[in-house]
Amino acid sequence: MTVTEDEPEPLTDSTISTKPKYECLEDLPGVGPATSKKLQEMGFHTIESLATATARELEPAGISEKKALDVIRLARGSITLSFTRADELLKQRQTISRLTTGSAILDNLLGGGLETQTITEFYGEYGSGKSQLCHQLCVDVQLPVEQGGLNGAALYIDTENTFRTERLVSMAEHLNLNPEQVARNVIVADAYTSDHQVFLLENSDKIIKQNNIRLIVVDSLTSHFRSEYIGRETLAVRQQKLNKHMHKLIRLARAFNAVAVVTNQVMAKPDVFFGDAVHPIGGHVVAHTSHTRVYLRESARGPVRIARLVSSPYLPDGEGIFKITINGIEEVEEGESKGRR
Ligand SMILES: Nc1ncnc2c1ncn2[C@@H]1O[C@H](COP(=O)(O)OP(=O)(O)O)[C@@H](O)[C@H]1O
Ligand SMILES: [Mg+2]
Repeated sequence: MTVTEDEPEPLTDSTISTKPKYECLEDLPGVGPATSKKLQEMGFHTIESLATATARELEPAGISEKKALDVIRLARGSITLSFTRADELLKQRQTISRLTTGSAILDNLLGGGLETQTITEFYGEYGSGKSQLCHQLCVDVQLPVEQGGLNGAALYIDTENTFRTERLVSMAEHLNLNPEQVARNVIVADAYTSDHQVFLLENSDKIIKQNNIRLIVVDSLTSHFRSEYIGRETLAVRQQKLNKHMHKLIRLARAFNAVAVVTNQVMAKPDVFFGDAVHPIGGHVVAHTSHTRVYLRESARGPVRIARLVSSPYLPDGEGIFKITINGIEEVEEGESKGRR
């Protein structure tokens, strides 16, 4: 992968008007690791908090008044763009496209498919169909717009080594697409550690642009983070990294009008007797940065899966079913779903 410092090019001024220039303290020119550490110890963790600070408040960090003023000015410059007129926001939303899952029921649940410019999270237990759905989306994204695709390619960051080209081939054949062509349009990156995963995404903008990538998959978002950061004392660092990673993903999705999909595992909730006894991992960071969250679970009927829309900025919660077959994600036929649950 080519390493580049370039920011992705915005689609138009209005579609990108909410993009912050700096995401974390160390992104600010003149703020090195030592200053950043001191500022965080003093309670300044975000660009927003710096933007509302006074030069005197930053003094204990050991920086001159002039430098403090510069830093505050840069931080302010970075966040002022987040004030956007509602008509601009509407224009921005009008450029959103949708990607089919291959199941009409699932598409309807999601308001017509997965939307570009935001993150959709699929969470569920092992075997619930998260990776199969991701594979299907990699094929579907290549379809023309009339067929629910985006006429583009896919980037797949695989952290669990479960990506299989064979699955793409079966799914492509079922849709009468050229399997070789379909496989060529899916760029796979194996992520060996959470740092590597972050690095891959940080450096993916050129690849995305050059290959007309309209779907970015991170499967799974949390597995490395979960296994590497064990113990309460590591939680803050883990969440900070995850947060930055997710925001990078949002920025790429906006800049390239792409669909972003992440998968996530679940953890048992020991204190719940009624309702769902599991919840997705990743805490508030993942909960707040995934715009749309879908909980997948197995049913009593073999290949049939149940998808529940758990959180969406504008759609009602609801449930739908689909099935996983050799052909990929398919509609459940009339009568086939009987006896499930
Ligand atoms: N070739 C196939 N034909 C039919 N079903 C398949 C095929 N490959 C995988 N599956 C189904 O998908 C399930 C695995 O789903 P997967 O997406 O890998 O789960 P997750 O990523 O949520 O752990 C398998 O248990 C099986 O039911
Ligand atoms: Mg998987």
